[in-house]
Amino acid sequence: MDQLRDLLVDDLQDLLHAESQLVQALPKMAKAAKNPKLKEAFEKHLLQTQGHVERLQSAFGLLGEKVQPKPCKGMQGLISEGEETINDNKDEHELASDLALIGAAQKVEHYEISGYGTAHCLARQIGEREVASLLAHTLGEEESADYLLSAISKPLLQEAMVVDSGSGSTTTAKAKTQKA
Ligand SMILES: [Fe+2]
Repeated sequence: MDQLRDLLVDDLQDLLHAESQLVQALPKMAKAAKNPKLKEAFEKHLLQTQGHVERLQSAFGLLGEKVQPKPCKGMQGLISEGEETINDNKDEHELASDLALIGAAQKVEHYEISGYGTAHCLARQIGEREVASLLAHTLGEEESADYLLSAISKPLLQEAMVVDSGSGSTTTAKAKTQKA
């Protein structure tokens, strides 16, 4: 039992550091996004992420533990890759750069979904129902954010196909105008 509790606290420390890094990274992602819906999605998720930090702080309180982050190397790597994606694609067509950004953001969401899924199972298993409920709430928001990113990417992918297939045509010319 104590071992499961220790595992949970360890996971919460890792998630706290992950979320704190995201609070710093999301404004940069919102700034890099060209599509207004994508920009809005990142801005909305920033507000949610600030709430995720608060829920984790509450979870530490419920467990009688100190609010203490532990370096989350996984999120450090994903954010560093995300920054590379922003830099590498900033001069590309706006559809390509937005789609690359969505890919990087979904990796982050999937990482968080995995982390919260495990922490939620542990909390439920050891009977920490209030902690489990907080984690389930955040897990739901991460899943919704991932779903929203998929929904935003679908029309962008279709538009990118049209641009690609229309090389040399007016479609490309229009796309180039939009880029400029
Ligand atoms: Fe989060």
